[in-house]
Amino acid sequence: MSTAATIPNPFVYGQVLIPGKPFCSRPQLESSVLEAAAHQRRIVLLGDRRMGKSSLVEHTLTRPDRVLVAVDLRGLDSVEDFIDRLLLRLSTTLEAHRALTKHLPEPLKEALTFIGEVNLSLHGIFSVSARTKPKASTVIRAMDAIERASHWRPLVVFFDEFQEIVENLEEREARHLLGVLRAEIQRHTHVAYLFAGSARGSMLELFTAERSHFYQSATILDVGPIPQADMAKFFKEQFARGKRELSADTLQAIFALAGESPNDQQQLAYHLWTQSTPGRLGQEELKRAFSALLAEVSRRGELILESATPAQRRVLFATAIREDEETSTDSFIRFAGFKNNSSVGAALRPFLKGNNAILEKRGSRVRYRERFMRLWVLLQVVNIPSLFPASRPFIASSEQGLLLPYLSNDLK
Ligand SMILES: Nc1ncnc2c1ncn2[C@@H]1O[C@H](COP(=O)(O)OP(=O)(O)O)[C@@H](O)[C@H]1O
Ligand SMILES: [Mg+2]
Repeated sequence: MSTAATIPNPFVYGQVLIPGKPFCSRPQLESSVLEAAAHQRRIVLLGDRRMGKSSLVEHTLTRPDRVLVAVDLRGLDSVEDFIDRLLLRLSTTLEAHRALTKHLPEPLKEALTFIGEVNLSLHGIFSVSARTKPKASTVIRAMDAIERASHWRPLVVFFDEFQEIVENLEEREARHLLGVLRAEIQRHTHVAYLFAGSARGSMLELFTAERSHFYQSATILDVGPIPQADMAKFFKEQFARGKRELSADTLQAIFALAGESPNDQQQLAYHLWTQSTPGRLGQEELKRAFSALLAEVSRRGELILESATPAQRRVLFATAIREDEETSTDSFIRFAGFKNNSSVGAALRPFLKGNNAILEKRGSRVRYRERFMRLWVLLQVVNIPSLFPASRPFIASSEQGLLLPYLSNDLK
């Protein structure tokens, strides 16, 4: 018998939604992606981090009868690394479709033996690695392996976080790699190519700037927030599976607290599920959920605050209070308690890259990558005013009015 208690929490956040995970449908985007896959087109998915680009592609396109080669370029550090990732994903994907690879066709075998060391096992499983120095010809040969594989079976190649090529490699290396890729991709008539990127600036430039190798080579799709009505329906249905009923107020509060990122909405929904039992969910459950969520965020937040210098802490507080303000203005510099722009910059630096990257740049503005981290930091300022005496404006803000009902467990 299936009771509400045996249904696992359906909500997932911070990771790609693979098939089988509940997914709020996005009909237009899904059909564009399916179209591209079916007709070997090229499309670019542009959108902020955590808007659901990777999930859209992997959830929509992963099917037993489709060969999807998903290459995640996050943290890419060299051309050699690019080749490794591409070939590794090609080989693991083909392996996953082993029923199809029982008889590895000659052209594919040939393409693969070109590259570094190739081990063909007796069972048709193979592993590939490119250990030789990356020359253009090596990238070409890696792409050639894709092309040959595609003649035996149409492929969909998905380069995720594609902007990392431009952002992480030396300019000359990046230009060269992009040039080779562009030329190769043009020849691949049996391959659909999808590109996704979070950093708007460099992705847009890559595909639209005139001097770019990828100029006008692909259709651009915006992946923004999921329309609230769709997400509301999704939440209602998922909660209903666990015999939980969401009132209109509770739904509204989820969106008000979590903002427009589907990731943050799911994070709150996840906790709302764990903090509730079957029945009607209202403010009490939501309060507990928000509290549990902040406790989760605090584990990371505390580590970061504890290891920060006083100046670094001030910049974190000031950014939380004056989100999306230009950090180079006199008003911000004074507000954060600094003397000049360069000392603000120095204090910001450790939070923009690496393990403690909780902030991100947007042009000349800086903001928190995660809304709930920002809220947690704000809460620290409210609870311990001596941490940052300039925090009065926040105390009076309408934002706090919005949050207040849900913060009663966490405000001291
Ligand atoms: N269609 C969807 N329905 C419900 N939640 C989604 C959907 N797409 C994304 N999400 C939420 O957003 C999170 C991040 O998605 P992801 O695909 O990794 O975003 P991106 O690739 O844009 O950074 C997921 O873990 C999930 O919580
Ligand atoms: Mg992604």
